[in-house]
Amino acid sequence: MWAMQNIAEAIIYVVPAYIANGTPVVVLRYIKQSHPIDLGVVMWDGRRLLGDGKTIEGLVSGLAVGLVAALSLYVLVPGIYRSLLECGLLPVGAMMGDILGAFIKRRMGLERGRSAPVLDQIGFLLVALLLAWLPHGAPIWLDAQTFVILLVITALLHLSTNALAYLVGLKDKWY
Ligand code: CTP
Ligand code: MG
Repeated sequence: MWAMQNIAEAIIYVVPAYIANGTPVVVLRYIKQSHPIDLGVVMWDGRRLLGDGKTIEGLVSGLAVGLVAALSLYVLVPGIYRSLLECGLLPVGAMMGDILGAFIKRRMGLERGRSAPVLDQIGFLLVALLLAWLPHGAPIWLDAQTFVILLVITALLHLSTNALAYLVGLKDKWY
């Protein structure tokens, strides 16, 4: 019973990171112009710093909607976060983790949009959690089992929402 409660709490806790990560896909579908965060810069390896899949518009919208989600959960689910800072760091970390993931993919020679299993699905969440736990340490629902289950659920959710985004025409790749 306790295990289920921890998992439920863990999933509610990370929602602002999920929302920040998903928002750019929707927003980019509806805006006419976008600007790459790396401003087109090419690195020593002849590849883009981040590539065209990380845009300023995506970053700003992901942060904005993620922060609103964080604030809403902070108010609606008392006790889930220990401070406003903690929940605000989740969308910030999610966007940072996603950008770091793109940086790593480019250095591995993977073009924008190519699949990097595991990194694509949980990289953003690992950085989000790391950042959110800095102010107060790990939350009380955290144990090894809950952590592993949270990562597996995140990966499955990422894959299924991406497949859905593909089916409704938001993305041109199913993963
Ligand atoms: N996106 C964006 N800006 C961000 C993050 C995402 O504009 N900071 C948009 C892009 O249109 C991107 C889409 O969301 O194509 C899906 O994100 P993601 O799968 O992370 O990017 P990829 O296109 O797969 O690029 P990469 O290989 O660099 O991860
Ligand atoms: Mg991708």
